Amino acid sequence: MVNSAQDYQIIPKPVSLETADGKFVVNSKTAVTAPEVLENEGQLLAEMISLASGVDVPFEINGSGNIHLNLDDSIENEEGYTLSVSYDQIVVSGKTPKGVFYGIMTLRQLQSGATETEPTTASEVTIPAVTIKDHPRYQYRGMHLDVARHFFPMDFIKRYIDLIALHKMNTFHWHLTEDQGWRIEIKKYPRLTEIGAYRNGTIVGHHPGSENDQKRYGGFYTQEEIKEIVAYASERHVTVIPEIELPGHSSAAIAAYPVLSCFPDEPTVVTHDMISDKSKAIQAAGTPKIVQETWGVFPDVYCAGKEDTFAFLQDVLDEVIPLFPSDYIHIGGDECPKANWERCPNCQKRIKDEGLHDAHELQSYFITRIEKYLNAKGKNIIGWDEILEGGLAPNATVMSWRGTEGGIEAAKQHHDVIMTPNHSCYFDHYQSEDHANEPLAIGGNTTVAEVYAYEPTPDDLNEEERNYILGAQANLWTEYIKTTDYAEYMILPRMTALAEVVWSPKEQKDWDDFYTRLQHFTHIYDAMGLNYAKHSIEDK
Ligand code: ACM
Ligand code: ZN
Repeated sequence: MVNSAQDYQIIPKPVSLETADGKFVVNSKTAVTAPEVLENEGQLLAEMISLASGVDVPFEINGSGNIHLNLDDSIENEEGYTLSVSYDQIVVSGKTPKGVFYGIMTLRQLQSGATETEPTTASEVTIPAVTIKDHPRYQYRGMHLDVARHFFPMDFIKRYIDLIALHKMNTFHWHLTEDQGWRIEIKKYPRLTEIGAYRNGTIVGHHPGSENDQKRYGGFYTQEEIKEIVAYASERHVTVIPEIELPGHSSAAIAAYPVLSCFPDEPTVVTHDMISDKSKAIQAAGTPKIVQETWGVFPDVYCAGKEDTFAFLQDVLDEVIPLFPSDYIHIGGDECPKANWERCPNCQKRIKDEGLHDAHELQSYFITRIEKYLNAKGKNIIGWDEILEGGLAPNATVMSWRGTEGGIEAAKQHHDVIMTPNHSCYFDHYQSEDHANEPLAIGGNTTVAEVYAYEPTPDDLNEEERNYILGAQANLWTEYIKTTDYAEYMILPRMTALAEVVWSPKEQKDWDDFYTRLQHFTHIYDAMGLNYAKHSIEDK
């Protein structure tokens, strides 16, 4: 059997791929075997082929099956793998189980007629003969999801993780706290979810909005649910990094515990008077702080002067740390207005006592103090690029979102960097010029081609500085993304383009070639029942 290029359409494109003639045919004799250490991967592969083929493919530890999974120390990259397919056997080898897992993700794309939800009965499943050697370009390949502006259910979080894994990405950045909702159970502070997880309304339409919808909205994940997600992700070799925002974007926590504000008695201001009737009544009855109901950046932030603030945050982090095995905790750090700190006696006293020059240095004090706490517990911090202002905390990793400048500056200061520039990596942007025919988005315009064209390592860095660029990530902020269907539409196919940016060798970047493979990749979207932006993939 002679294979054609059609048979080898893999995203992200592997480092090296040699085609050969012949095909492996899945039939009743097909079986998967692996050493015990690869039991998770072996089971997953057997299930994957069974679903695609309708043949019940067994898995056996140290068995005699014709599909072998192995660990191979001679593979250099921790995430690297080799895959060899011939007419009578398949071998997947990785330096680590993670590498083997990525080999399986490649196999998934090589299966003919592969679907996940509907077993193929019309024709047998075949896999074309091939030798692949592959490893990622960047060690950090992430997707972020804001579950605070809108809340997403457990099954969607798992689907999101499935997508991350399918694309050989390895990190899920879970944005769990915001002005509009606190989404993680903290046992010591039950009001965070009793009060902070719900808002009394949401603006209608694009900010500033035409009205308030007057509907109570919210939700949160229990610690048991968080554990379930972390375990699910771990089986798919995805690390979950929680984000606990500080010192800004903290209105929901302040609504729950007003003492955290510089001014506990001052009412929360909902801009343009888009406040719900319920919240208005609550404020009139003497409860000034509410969970935010509109979008934007708000002046009521954690007080940097009170010890109560740090005691609270340390307690919260004490509950967060054991839930997430990740080396990193994201502490936010973006968009923290300093107006309250400027007029707060406690904050001003802190500035004086610590010999700080201004409120920017107070933010740096805040972040550095939290970093020190987390470092002592074995965790490193990631913060948005505003953490550069007033001086970087000594061990912080910077997530560059306001373009690439923050990332470049951080790398020059020899700090690790994750690139997530808004121009190329903000998937809450529109994805075509035809905004009238797109669902409401925050603004901007980032096409799948623009995502593909993005180069995470800036030219202005020298060779040594380039090593600090760990990788890139796309962010999905959800002010306007209310449903899971819409979330899928915004990430697909842009995520598929980013996956290749962060995995495949730069020299192999080729838009036309990618676009051809993308047409084929839609089979997987369809099989998974995903909603994607079809106009971004139409045959040119
Ligand atoms: C951000 O988009 N405020 C990080
Ligand atoms: Zn203060």
